[in-house]
Amino acid sequence: MATARGAEYLLTLGRWRRGLGLVTQSRALAALVPGVSQVDNKSDFLGKRSHRRHPGILQLSRVRLPQVLVDAAQLLLLESSMPNMEKQVQALTNYLWSRHLPVEPEELQRRAVHLEKKFLENADSCQMEKLCGEVLHALRRTTYHWQELSYSEGLSLVYMAARLDGGFAAVSRAFHEIQARLPEFQPQTLMDFGSGTGSVTWAAHSTWGQSLREYMCVDSSAAMLELAEKLLKGGSGSGMPYVPGVFFRQFLPVSPKVQFDVVVSAFSLSELPSKANRTDVVQTLWRKTGHFLGKEKSPLDPRPGFVFAPNKKPKEEKFSMVILARGSPEEANRWPRITQPVLKRPRHVHCHLCCPDGHMQHAVITARRHGRDLYRCARVSSWGDRLPVITPSELPPSPAQDPPES
Ligand SMILES: C[S@@+](CC[C@H](N)C(=O)[O-])C[C@H]1O[C@@H](n2cnc3c(N)ncnc32)[C@H](O)[C@@H]1O
Ligand SMILES: *[C@@H]1O[C@H](CO)[C@@H](O)[C@H](O)[C@H]1NC(C)=O
Ligand SMILES: *[C@@H]1O[C@H](CO)[C@@H](O)[C@H](O)[C@H]1NC(C)=O
Repeated sequence: MATARGAEYLLTLGRWRRGLGLVTQSRALAALVPGVSQVDNKSDFLGKRSHRRHPGILQLSRVRLPQVLVDAAQLLLLESSMPNMEKQVQALTNYLWSRHLPVEPEELQRRAVHLEKKFLENADSCQMEKLCGEVLHALRRTTYHWQELSYSEGLSLVYMAARLDGGFAAVSRAFHEIQARLPEFQPQTLMDFGSGTGSVTWAAHSTWGQSLREYMCVDSSAAMLELAEKLLKGGSGSGMPYVPGVFFRQFLPVSPKVQFDVVVSAFSLSELPSKANRTDVVQTLWRKTGHFLGKEKSPLDPRPGFVFAPNKKPKEEKFSMVILARGSPEEANRWPRITQPVLKRPRHVHCHLCCPDGHMQHAVITARRHGRDLYRCARVSSWGDRLPVITPSELPPSPAQDPPES
């Protein structure tokens, strides 16, 4: 199948973790680039737009759940006779926010060896038998105990009440990024791994409902799949689904034969028990991203991937996302991403930028040094937006470095 529609995308979204932000921050200090970017004046980037609406702005100020979805969710909650719903929602919300990734087997092994040594130092030979038990006991006490969540009918409903709006908003923001940057992209097929309540399907329908004709929802929980299907049917078990072309599967089809224009995993990778499992799933998802071109039978799509949008965004719903696109990065413009809250000060603005080459840059932007356009754009930008600048590493090489013409 020929695709003139542009790149295909793999999106992963997850809970925003403060810890990750700190790592970035220390790296930013280590690689502080003093020289600053110049405004991207290659293109008439503002056109007739005001600075307030410069094309790097990607925020969605407010996202509304579709009314039909709200009605369906409310109906399901009313019908269920679950006690203490509000308390359960609060408890699950807290639990999800304080959840860590599971400890890796190698890390456990390392800790066990360390503890064993410590105990051995203080033990005489007749205590050897007790040693193993003590090590295990200490490990249990000091190691984060990750537990798999089993989404039963009840928990699925609580999850829906707790996370339907936040999940929908985060995914909408991610889709908005692709749509704003590539308005001509008209995906026809989508796969959602760990689809849960189906918020991804709803958000995708809001964004690309005109072109999407197939939505593949994959979730290991039968109860979740059933809930998602009910939501699509207005909260009942029968009737026509609000979004046509939605299919439900309990297992991720590993065959790379069928690919999808957009593949999404939202808040689901952290549900997997180990790094190996996550890597496995992401690789499978990546293989399922994008069409085969021509009659190619190779299971691996030869087109390289690039990072389309690394991002951390604040607001009510904080989340992290990565959008991987097939194709070549030249297809996208390469403006740096703002990775922390923008600090507006008198006559200058602090922006922390993640540049396309991976460098972090702390830019202090003034009208005098960088021109009024860039200064005003920076002042109205926020965390998660992109700044319309060409960063130093992106500047074309000086004439002396030009490669010989061929
Ligand atoms: C936290 S929910 C996220 C739901 C949805 N993506 C959202 O954003 O609202 C995670 C979902 O992943 C599903 N899940 C966990 N392990 C899975 C696996 N190995 N394969 C498929 N789905 C899985 C769970 O059943 C659950 O519905
Ligand atoms: C862009 O700005 C740079 C530095 O201010 C300047 O040297 C260059 O001529 C400008 N290019 C265009 C197309 O205006
Ligand atoms: C995780 O990986 C292990 C080892 O490959 C496998 O046995 C297990 O089924 C996987 N679990 C999930 C949920 O993918």
